[in-house]
Amino acid sequence: MKAAVLEETGKDPVIRTMDIPEPGPGEKRVQLQYAALNHRDVYIRNGQYARIQLPVIPGSDGCGTDTESGERVVINPSFGWGDDPRAQGSSYTILGMPRNGTFAEYICVPEDRIHAAPEHLSSAGAAALPLAGVTAYRALFTRAQARKGEKVFIHGIGGGVALFAMQFALAAGCEVYVSSSSEQKIQDAVALGAKDGFLYNTEGWAKNLVAQKLAFDVIVESAGGPGYADLLTIAAPGARIASYGGTRGKMDGLSPQVIFWKQLSLLGSTMGNDNDFADMLAFVSRHGIEPVISETFALENIADTYTYMHEAQQFGKIIIDIQS
Ligand SMILES: NC(=O)c1ccc[n+]([C@@H]2O[C@H](COP(=O)([O-])OP(=O)(O)OC[C@H]3O[C@@H](n4cnc5c(N)ncnc54)[C@H](OP(=O)(O)O)[C@@H]3O)[C@@H](O)[C@H]2O)c1
Repeated sequence: MKAAVLEETGKDPVIRTMDIPEPGPGEKRVQLQYAALNHRDVYIRNGQYARIQLPVIPGSDGCGTDTESGERVVINPSFGWGDDPRAQGSSYTILGMPRNGTFAEYICVPEDRIHAAPEHLSSAGAAALPLAGVTAYRALFTRAQARKGEKVFIHGIGGGVALFAMQFALAAGCEVYVSSSSEQKIQDAVALGAKDGFLYNTEGWAKNLVAQKLAFDVIVESAGGPGYADLLTIAAPGARIASYGGTRGKMDGLSPQVIFWKQLSLLGSTMGNDNDFADMLAFVSRHGIEPVISETFALENIADTYTYMHEAQQFGKIIIDIQS
Protein backbone atom coordinates (compact mmCIF):
# COMPACT_ATOMS: atom_id res chain seq x y z
CA MET A 1 0.00 0.00 0.00
CA LYS A 2 0.92 3.67 -0.39
CA ALA A 3 1.61 5.56 2.84
CA ALA A 4 3.08 8.90 3.90
CA VAL A 5 5.84 8.20 6.41
CA LEU A 6 7.46 10.73 8.74
CA GLU A 7 11.04 9.47 9.02
CA GLU A 8 12.78 12.53 10.50
CA THR A 9 11.57 15.60 12.35
CA GLY A 10 12.16 18.86 10.50
CA LYS A 11 11.38 17.14 7.17
CA ASP A 12 8.08 16.42 5.43
CA PRO A 13 6.70 12.88 5.33
CA VAL A 14 7.67 10.87 2.25
CA ILE A 15 5.53 8.47 0.20
CA ARG A 16 6.56 4.84 0.69
CA THR A 17 5.20 1.48 -0.45
CA MET A 18 4.48 -0.81 2.50
CA ASP A 19 2.74 -4.11 3.22
CA ILE A 20 -1.00 -3.88 3.82
CA PRO A 21 -1.39 -4.30 7.62
CA GLU A 22 -3.05 -7.45 8.96
CA PRO A 23 -5.66 -6.96 11.70
CA GLY A 24 -4.62 -8.35 15.10
CA PRO A 25 -7.09 -9.95 17.55
CA GLY A 26 -10.10 -7.65 18.09
CA GLU A 27 -8.99 -5.32 15.30
CA LYS A 28 -10.60 -4.25 12.05
CA ARG A 29 -8.98 -3.14 8.83
CA VAL A 30 -10.19 0.05 7.16
CA GLN A 31 -9.46 1.03 3.58
CA LEU A 32 -9.12 4.78 3.90
CA GLN A 33 -10.61 7.18 1.37
CA TYR A 34 -9.90 10.51 3.03
CA ALA A 35 -7.79 11.75 5.94
CA ALA A 36 -7.45 15.23 7.47
CA LEU A 37 -4.52 17.22 8.83
CA ASN A 38 -4.36 18.66 12.34
CA HIS A 39 -1.95 21.09 13.95
CA ARG A 40 -0.66 18.11 15.96
CA ASP A 41 0.77 16.62 12.73
CA VAL A 42 2.63 19.88 12.05
CA TYR A 43 4.01 20.04 15.62
CA ILE A 44 5.24 16.41 15.34
CA ARG A 45 6.82 17.13 11.95
CA ASN A 46 8.58 20.15 13.48
CA GLY A 47 9.83 18.16 16.47
CA GLN A 48 7.69 20.30 18.82
CA TYR A 49 5.83 17.43 20.51
CA ALA A 50 6.52 15.23 23.53
CA ARG A 51 7.97 11.70 23.15
CA ILE A 52 8.18 11.58 19.34
CA GLN A 53 8.72 8.03 18.05
CA LEU A 54 9.73 7.63 14.39
CA PRO A 55 9.25 6.39 11.75
CA VAL A 56 5.49 6.73 11.83
CA ILE A 57 2.56 7.12 9.48
CA PRO A 58 0.99 10.38 10.77
CA GLY A 59 -2.69 11.28 10.72
CA SER A 60 -5.44 11.17 13.37
CA ASP A 61 -8.50 11.57 11.15
CA GLY A 62 -9.87 9.19 8.57
CA CYS A 63 -12.97 7.95 6.79
CA GLY A 64 -13.02 4.74 4.79
CA THR A 65 -14.54 1.31 4.37
CA ASP A 66 -14.45 -1.54 6.88
CA THR A 67 -12.91 -4.18 4.59
CA GLU A 68 -14.98 -6.96 6.23
CA SER A 69 -18.47 -5.42 6.43
CA GLY A 70 -18.18 -2.82 3.65
CA GLU A 71 -19.59 -0.19 6.05
CA ARG A 72 -18.45 3.43 5.70
CA VAL A 73 -16.72 4.30 8.97
CA VAL A 74 -14.79 6.97 10.87
CA ILE A 75 -12.14 6.26 13.48
CA ASN A 76 -12.10 7.57 17.05
CA PRO A 77 -8.50 8.89 17.39
CA SER A 78 -8.45 8.60 21.22
CA PHE A 79 -6.75 5.43 22.51
CA GLY A 80 -6.82 4.30 26.14
CA TRP A 81 -8.59 7.27 27.78
CA GLY A 82 -9.10 5.19 30.93
CA ASP A 83 -11.84 4.99 33.56
CA ASP A 84 -12.13 8.63 34.64
CA PRO A 85 -14.41 10.68 32.37
CA ARG A 86 -12.91 13.89 33.83
CA ALA A 87 -9.39 13.33 32.45
CA GLN A 88 -7.40 10.87 30.36
CA GLY A 89 -5.11 8.36 32.09
CA SER A 90 -1.33 8.06 31.79
CA SER A 91 -1.44 5.49 28.97
CA TYR A 92 -3.62 7.72 26.76
CA THR A 93 -2.38 8.19 23.16
CA ILE A 94 -3.68 9.81 19.99
CA LEU A 95 -3.79 8.02 16.64
CA GLY A 96 -0.95 9.01 14.29
CA MET A 97 2.01 8.76 16.73
CA PRO A 98 3.09 6.54 18.35
CA ARG A 99 0.54 4.24 16.59
CA ASN A 100 0.52 4.44 12.79
CA GLY A 101 -2.17 6.85 11.57
CA THR A 102 -4.42 7.56 8.64
CA PHE A 103 -2.13 8.95 5.92
CA ALA A 104 -2.12 5.51 4.26
CA GLU A 105 -4.35 3.33 2.12
CA TYR A 106 -5.09 0.92 4.98
CA ILE A 107 -5.10 0.99 8.76
CA CYS A 108 -5.91 -1.60 11.45
CA VAL A 109 -7.53 -0.37 14.69
CA PRO A 110 -9.40 -2.00 17.59
CA GLU A 111 -13.02 -2.65 16.69
CA ASP A 112 -14.31 -0.25 19.36
CA ARG A 113 -12.50 2.71 17.71
CA ILE A 114 -14.74 2.38 14.65
CA HIS A 115 -18.08 4.20 14.24
CA ALA A 116 -20.50 4.46 11.34
CA ALA A 117 -19.82 7.68 9.40
CA PRO A 118 -22.72 10.20 9.68
CA GLU A 119 -25.00 9.37 6.75
CA HIS A 120 -25.53 12.94 5.57
CA LEU A 121 -21.80 13.54 5.11
CA SER A 122 -19.54 12.88 2.15
CA SER A 123 -16.50 10.73 3.00
CA ALA A 124 -14.30 13.85 2.85
CA GLY A 125 -16.65 15.66 5.24
CA ALA A 126 -16.68 12.69 7.63
CA ALA A 127 -12.86 12.54 7.56
CA ALA A 128 -12.76 16.19 8.69
CA LEU A 129 -14.64 15.40 11.89
CA PRO A 130 -12.91 13.13 14.41
CA LEU A 131 -10.07 14.98 16.19
CA ALA A 132 -11.22 18.57 15.74
CA GLY A 133 -14.88 17.62 16.23
CA VAL A 134 -14.38 15.81 19.54
CA THR A 135 -12.05 18.54 20.83
CA ALA A 136 -14.58 21.25 20.01
CA TYR A 137 -17.48 19.23 21.44
CA ARG A 138 -15.80 18.54 24.79
CA ALA A 139 -14.47 22.11 25.19
CA LEU A 140 -17.82 23.72 24.36
CA PHE A 141 -20.35 21.36 25.94
CA THR A 142 -18.71 18.89 28.37
CA ARG A 143 -16.37 21.47 29.91
CA ALA A 144 -17.88 24.95 29.28
CA GLN A 145 -21.52 23.73 29.39
CA ALA A 146 -22.64 26.14 26.65
CA ARG A 147 -26.43 26.51 26.60
CA LYS A 148 -29.06 27.85 24.21
CA GLY A 149 -29.29 31.64 24.24
CA GLU A 150 -25.82 32.22 25.73
CA LYS A 151 -23.26 34.50 24.11
CA VAL A 152 -20.29 32.43 22.93
CA PHE A 153 -16.96 33.84 21.74
CA ILE A 154 -14.70 31.68 19.55
CA HIS A 155 -11.14 33.03 19.45
CA GLY A 156 -9.12 32.50 16.21
CA ILE A 157 -11.89 31.21 13.96
CA GLY A 158 -9.44 30.07 11.25
CA GLY A 159 -8.60 26.99 13.34
CA GLY A 160 -10.16 23.62 12.51
CA VAL A 161 -11.36 23.07 16.08
CA ALA A 162 -12.56 26.68 16.37
CA LEU A 163 -14.76 26.39 13.32
CA PHE A 164 -16.44 23.23 14.65
CA ALA A 165 -16.96 24.96 18.00
CA MET A 166 -18.72 27.79 16.16
CA GLN A 167 -20.91 25.41 14.13
CA PHE A 168 -21.81 23.37 17.24
CA ALA A 169 -22.62 26.51 19.28
CA LEU A 170 -24.84 27.85 16.49
CA ALA A 171 -26.63 24.49 16.23
CA ALA A 172 -27.21 24.59 20.02
CA GLY A 173 -28.92 27.99 19.71
CA CYS A 174 -26.10 30.15 21.10
CA GLU A 175 -25.32 33.66 19.86
CA VAL A 176 -21.83 33.33 18.43
CA TYR A 177 -19.09 35.93 17.98
CA VAL A 178 -15.62 35.23 16.61
CA SER A 179 -12.15 36.73 16.35
CA SER A 180 -9.51 36.31 13.69
CA SER A 181 -6.35 37.86 12.26
CA SER A 182 -8.17 38.01 8.92
CA GLU A 183 -11.12 40.17 7.88
CA GLN A 184 -11.95 37.62 5.20
CA LYS A 185 -12.20 34.78 7.77
CA ILE A 186 -14.53 36.96 9.89
CA GLN A 187 -16.74 37.54 6.85
CA ASP A 188 -16.74 33.79 6.14
CA ALA A 189 -17.76 33.09 9.76
CA VAL A 190 -20.57 35.65 9.59
CA ALA A 191 -21.77 34.01 6.36
CA LEU A 192 -22.00 30.74 8.31
CA GLY A 193 -24.12 32.34 11.05
CA ALA A 194 -21.80 34.21 13.45
CA LYS A 195 -23.32 37.45 14.70
CA ASP A 196 -20.10 39.49 14.38
CA GLY A 197 -16.31 39.23 14.46
CA PHE A 198 -13.29 41.21 15.64
CA LEU A 199 -9.66 41.43 14.57
CA TYR A 200 -7.65 40.21 17.58
CA ASN A 201 -4.45 41.66 16.10
CA THR A 202 -5.66 45.28 16.31
CA GLU A 203 -4.71 47.38 19.35
CA GLY A 204 -7.47 47.76 21.94
CA TRP A 205 -9.94 45.34 20.33
CA ALA A 206 -11.03 43.88 23.68
CA LYS A 207 -11.46 47.31 25.30
CA ASN A 208 -13.68 48.33 22.36
CA LEU A 209 -15.97 45.39 23.12
CA VAL A 210 -16.18 46.39 26.78
CA ALA A 211 -17.06 49.94 25.66
CA GLN A 212 -19.86 48.43 23.54
CA LYS A 213 -21.01 46.47 26.65
CA LEU A 214 -20.43 43.16 24.86
CA ALA A 215 -19.49 40.34 27.24
CA PHE A 216 -19.50 36.58 26.76
CA ASP A 217 -20.83 33.68 28.84
CA VAL A 218 -18.57 31.13 27.16
CA ILE A 219 -15.17 31.63 25.48
CA VAL A 220 -13.39 28.89 23.55
CA GLU A 221 -9.74 29.44 22.71
CA SER A 222 -6.46 27.74 21.76
CA ALA A 223 -3.97 30.60 21.61
CA GLY A 224 -3.04 31.31 25.24
CA GLY A 225 -0.13 33.77 25.19
CA PRO A 226 -0.23 37.38 26.38
CA GLY A 227 -3.53 37.87 24.50
CA TYR A 228 -5.28 35.53 26.95
CA ALA A 229 -5.64 38.46 29.38
CA ASP A 230 -7.92 40.15 26.81
CA LEU A 231 -10.30 37.20 27.12
CA LEU A 232 -10.72 37.85 30.84
CA THR A 233 -11.65 41.44 29.93
CA ILE A 234 -14.45 40.39 27.58
CA ALA A 235 -15.76 37.58 29.85
CA ALA A 236 -19.17 38.17 31.46
CA PRO A 237 -19.55 37.65 35.22
CA GLY A 238 -19.64 33.88 35.84
CA ALA A 239 -18.21 33.08 32.39
CA ARG A 240 -16.52 29.81 31.49
CA ILE A 241 -13.33 29.97 29.39
CA ALA A 242 -12.30 26.67 27.80
CA SER A 243 -8.70 26.37 26.50
CA TYR A 244 -7.59 23.45 24.35
CA GLY A 245 -4.32 24.78 22.87
CA GLY A 246 -1.32 26.96 23.57
CA THR A 247 -0.29 28.27 20.14
CA ARG A 248 1.02 31.58 21.58
CA GLY A 249 2.70 30.16 24.68
CA LYS A 250 2.50 31.25 28.30
CA MET A 251 -0.42 33.36 29.49
CA ASP A 252 1.26 36.46 30.90
CA GLY A 253 -0.29 39.40 32.69
CA LEU A 254 -3.36 37.70 34.16
CA SER A 255 -5.13 39.61 36.89
CA PRO A 256 -6.29 37.37 39.78
CA GLN A 257 -8.69 40.17 40.79
CA VAL A 258 -10.54 39.89 37.47
CA ILE A 259 -10.72 36.10 37.80
CA PHE A 260 -12.14 36.06 41.33
CA TRP A 261 -14.26 39.20 41.15
CA LYS A 262 -16.00 38.05 37.99
CA GLN A 263 -16.29 34.48 39.37
CA LEU A 264 -14.68 33.10 36.20
CA SER A 265 -14.08 29.41 35.50
CA LEU A 266 -10.86 28.78 33.55
CA LEU A 267 -11.12 25.30 32.07
CA GLY A 268 -8.59 23.07 30.35
CA SER A 269 -9.80 20.60 27.74
CA THR A 270 -8.08 17.91 25.68
CA MET A 271 -9.59 15.74 22.95
CA GLY A 272 -12.51 13.78 24.43
CA ASN A 273 -13.48 10.48 26.03
CA ASP A 274 -15.47 7.78 24.23
CA ASN A 275 -18.79 9.31 25.36
CA ASP A 276 -17.76 12.73 24.03
CA PHE A 277 -16.89 11.13 20.68
CA ALA A 278 -20.17 9.22 20.36
CA ASP A 279 -22.15 12.28 21.51
CA MET A 280 -20.32 14.48 19.00
CA LEU A 281 -21.18 12.13 16.10
CA ALA A 282 -24.83 12.01 17.22
CA PHE A 283 -24.96 15.82 17.54
CA VAL A 284 -23.49 16.28 14.04
CA SER A 285 -26.04 13.84 12.58
CA ARG A 286 -28.97 15.35 14.49
CA HIS A 287 -28.19 18.88 13.33
CA GLY A 288 -26.98 17.95 9.82
CA ILE A 289 -23.73 19.82 10.41
CA GLU A 290 -21.44 20.05 7.37
CA PRO A 291 -17.72 20.42 8.15
CA VAL A 292 -16.08 23.30 6.31
CA ILE A 293 -13.34 22.06 4.01
CA SER A 294 -10.65 24.56 3.15
CA GLU A 295 -8.65 22.55 0.60
CA THR A 296 -8.13 18.97 -0.55
CA PHE A 297 -4.69 17.61 -1.50
CA ALA A 298 -3.68 14.26 -3.01
CA LEU A 299 -1.69 11.95 -0.69
CA GLU A 300 1.24 12.30 -3.13
CA ASN A 301 1.32 16.04 -2.30
CA ILE A 302 1.33 15.54 1.46
CA ALA A 303 4.12 18.09 1.96
CA ASP A 304 1.87 20.85 0.54
CA THR A 305 -0.74 20.20 3.27
CA TYR A 306 1.85 20.90 6.00
CA THR A 307 2.98 24.12 4.30
CA TYR A 308 -0.63 25.24 3.86
CA MET A 309 -1.38 24.80 7.58
CA HIS A 310 1.96 26.22 8.72
CA GLU A 311 1.13 29.42 6.82
CA ALA A 312 -2.36 29.49 8.46
CA GLN A 313 -4.01 29.89 5.05
CA GLN A 314 -6.93 27.64 5.95
CA PHE A 315 -10.52 28.37 6.87
CA GLY A 316 -11.75 24.91 7.78
CA LYS A 317 -10.19 21.50 7.49
CA ILE A 318 -7.38 20.43 5.19
CA ILE A 319 -8.31 17.10 3.58
CA ILE A 320 -6.05 14.43 2.09
CA ASP A 321 -7.45 12.33 -0.73
CA ILE A 322 -5.86 8.94 -0.12
CA GLN A 323 -7.10 7.15 -3.25
CA SER A 324 -6.24 9.81 -5.86
N1 LIG B 1 -5.88 19.76 23.46
C1 LIG B 1 -6.36 19.17 22.38
O1 LIG B 1 -7.01 18.13 22.44
C2 LIG B 1 -6.16 19.81 21.05
C3 LIG B 1 -6.84 19.31 19.94
C4 LIG B 1 -6.71 19.98 18.73
C5 LIG B 1 -5.87 21.09 18.65
N2 LIG B 1 -5.18 21.51 19.74
C6 LIG B 1 -4.30 22.70 19.67
O2 LIG B 1 -5.12 23.81 19.36
C7 LIG B 1 -4.41 24.71 18.50
C8 LIG B 1 -5.20 24.90 17.21
O3 LIG B 1 -5.31 23.66 16.56
P1 LIG B 1 -6.04 23.49 15.15
O4 LIG B 1 -5.80 22.11 14.67
O5 LIG B 1 -7.43 23.99 15.26
O6 LIG B 1 -5.06 24.41 14.31
P2 LIG B 1 -5.26 25.36 13.11
O7 LIG B 1 -6.40 24.84 12.30
O8 LIG B 1 -3.95 25.52 12.46
O9 LIG B 1 -5.65 26.74 13.86
C9 LIG B 1 -4.77 27.71 14.22
C10 LIG B 1 -5.55 29.03 14.33
O10 LIG B 1 -5.20 29.65 15.55
C11 LIG B 1 -5.54 31.02 15.45
N3 LIG B 1 -4.57 31.86 16.16
C12 LIG B 1 -3.25 31.97 15.92
N4 LIG B 1 -2.72 32.94 16.72
C13 LIG B 1 -3.73 33.42 17.48
C14 LIG B 1 -3.83 34.41 18.48
N5 LIG B 1 -2.77 35.12 18.88
N6 LIG B 1 -5.03 34.65 19.02
C15 LIG B 1 -6.12 33.93 18.63
N7 LIG B 1 -6.10 32.98 17.68
C16 LIG B 1 -4.91 32.73 17.11
C17 LIG B 1 -5.54 31.37 13.97
O11 LIG B 1 -6.83 31.87 13.66
P3 LIG B 1 -7.06 33.00 12.54
O12 LIG B 1 -6.50 32.38 11.28
O13 LIG B 1 -8.54 33.16 12.51
O14 LIG B 1 -6.32 34.24 12.95
C18 LIG B 1 -5.22 30.05 13.28
O15 LIG B 1 -5.95 29.84 12.11
C19 LIG B 1 -3.04 24.09 18.31
O16 LIG B 1 -2.15 24.64 19.25
C20 LIG B 1 -3.28 22.62 18.59
O17 LIG B 1 -2.13 21.95 19.02
C21 LIG B 1 -5.32 20.90 20.94
